[in-house]
Amino acid sequence: MVMDDNTGAARFLPDRLDLAALRRAAAGCQGCDLFRNATQTVFGEGPAGARFMLVGEEPGDQEDRQGAPFVGPAGRVLDRGLEEAGIERDDVYVTNAVKHFSFTLRGKRRIHQKPTAAEIDACHPWLASELAVVHPKLVVVLGATAARALLGKDFRVTRQRGEPVPLGEALAVATIHPSAVLRATDRDEAYAGFLADLKVAARTA
Ligand code: URA
Ligand code: SF4
Repeated sequence: MVMDDNTGAARFLPDRLDLAALRRAAAGCQGCDLFRNATQTVFGEGPAGARFMLVGEEPGDQEDRQGAPFVGPAGRVLDRGLEEAGIERDDVYVTNAVKHFSFTLRGKRRIHQKPTAAEIDACHPWLASELAVVHPKLVVVLGATAARALLGKDFRVTRQRGEPVPLGEALAVATIHPSAVLRATDRDEAYAGFLADLKVAARTA
């Protein structure tokens, strides 16, 4: 049988659902074309018993090189927010809606490209499996891509951020992506809103 490599991640799922098995299997995922140009799969990180699960968009340039989520500039905004919201690191599992870095080349520079709806859908089995295994009480949805992956295409972060909404057996709180804080004209104002949403998440869990 000829395999079509654009049919999503489902056929790469392991039989046993635990984080180690998922991570190993995801390293070989070819469920969409993004694996072709990226360095490696960037799987989620954190303890299986975490109360909080944070979901971003996709790895960035640094994450792609280092193989870990949120280790670049956006990660520093996130770390600061978590600390100021009183959310303990060892209570947090961090991941992304899409596990490979999507980019276009401009000369030698790799310019971040938003994942498409098809790529978000293709990668969804990994995110769904992480949710099933970690079983968080509270999911922090970081930006529109994570919202598209978890809360459906009609969810609007701008209108519905900062209020708990049901997500399976968990609750979810959406907020802006930490990269949007860095891009904002008024960074202090954007960060204050981001932190306020994280504080809602902290007291809802
Ligand atoms: N942006 C994301 O959405 N995820 C990362 O891991 C890094 C930057
Ligand atoms: Fe697989 Fe997701 Fe990577 Fe696509 S982005 S190859 S679905 S892990």
